[in-house]
Amino acid sequence: MTHAKQLYRASILHFPKASQQPEIDVSFFQDGALIVEDSKIIAVGEYKTLKASHTNYEQHNYTGKLIIPGLIDSHLHFPQTEMIAKYGDQLLAWLENYTFPTENKFKDNEYCKLIANQFIKQLINNGTTTAFAYATVHKQSVDALFSCASQYNMSMITGKVCMDRNCPDYLQDTPESAQIESQALIEKWHGTKRNLYALTPRFAPTSSDKQLALLGELAKDNPSVFIQTHLSENHGEVEWVKQLFPKSKSYLDVYDQHNMVHERSLFGHCLHLSEHEWERLADAKATSVFCPSSNLFLGSGLFSLEEAYQYNVPIALASDVGAGTSFNMFRNYGDAYKIGQLQGNKLNVLVGFYMMTQGPACNYGLEQEIGNLNPGTYADFVVLNPHFNALSTLRCDALTDIESASDMLFALSFIGDDRAVEATYIAGQELKHARKEQEYALA
Ligand code: GUN
Ligand code: ZN
Repeated sequence: MTHAKQLYRASILHFPKASQQPEIDVSFFQDGALIVEDSKIIAVGEYKTLKASHTNYEQHNYTGKLIIPGLIDSHLHFPQTEMIAKYGDQLLAWLENYTFPTENKFKDNEYCKLIANQFIKQLINNGTTTAFAYATVHKQSVDALFSCASQYNMSMITGKVCMDRNCPDYLQDTPESAQIESQALIEKWHGTKRNLYALTPRFAPTSSDKQLALLGELAKDNPSVFIQTHLSENHGEVEWVKQLFPKSKSYLDVYDQHNMVHERSLFGHCLHLSEHEWERLADAKATSVFCPSSNLFLGSGLFSLEEAYQYNVPIALASDVGAGTSFNMFRNYGDAYKIGQLQGNKLNVLVGFYMMTQGPACNYGLEQEIGNLNPGTYADFVVLNPHFNALSTLRCDALTDIESASDMLFALSFIGDDRAVEATYIAGQELKHARKEQEYALA
């Protein structure tokens, strides 16, 4: 049983406030302390100051390491864990050949539980403590993921995938069953423990107008529920949407006609948008979710940081596993940086880290709970070890200031992996410790 009062000593970096990207407000303590009581953070600051006022706290010495907030992955697919890195197709063929057959396995309840557990282990091993995850069309896949997340007191947002056409019969629901099952899942899970529901129409091609209309009604009736879907990922997909919805002004308009474009909407990809679509996303304060490793892997296109900034649309980073090639959010930032480079627009490492912590937390109205290390938030945090192998030891200097901390985060985004995550804490519980793995439930 963990002692209720904890003091963690380390270098500490986080973004305490909402910022207008690409400007960001960063806070760094070279010799810092994070004070935790039960599941919440109660203070963060200089070790010397906080030690004096917290004498009866159990001390953990992570000197030389860096504490950052638990990471937020704003878009990925838990059933695709086992089909990560499948060779050779672009989006639509990849869905037909790999994704749909894999998702069919989730008709089996026990299989859902097995993969939900594997998925959550991958997140925690990589320092991700909040995920916006797609389940499958089967309601038991949602039950399995929320149940597993609840065991770890983890912040999980998921929803039943809805699709009533243009997919194999074995995965099809109907407009009515999608509405009834989504409603029942909202009632069962939304707001229990740290679980939140996201209405999840897969993407416009796999939903009829009627299905989108019924889900839009649910969105209206449940304003605190999220909406997650895909938008403008692949040229073939964009053309297909034009044929399927000839009356819509644009791809985004298909969703907009059904009350699905608002502050709690997360649109995966956003690669081939018109000016009007960017403007509408900005008006609605909806989030564009940049999935760099997926976009490179499927050859979908290059996300335009320039356009997102120009139109002032919030950006969140995400892995999009299993089209994305790594659960590791650092690696996904590394791919985002390369995509920026190809377009002459470098993504600064601190801005990239903001897009997986405080940025999305603020966009989603969750900054009182996650995304930063402010007092009152959940004690979801990660301890990074810059010297986890010979190369990282050679490459990373001691953490003396913000520049060396940024440089280390940058280096780990290319040469790092889950071994750089020394420990992951969720709601004050240490769920991963690299050097004590045998002792942990997750090992
Ligand atoms: N578009 C519709 N479904 C999917 C999916 O599962 N992955 C990706 N990357 N794009 C999609
Ligand atoms: Zn996706």
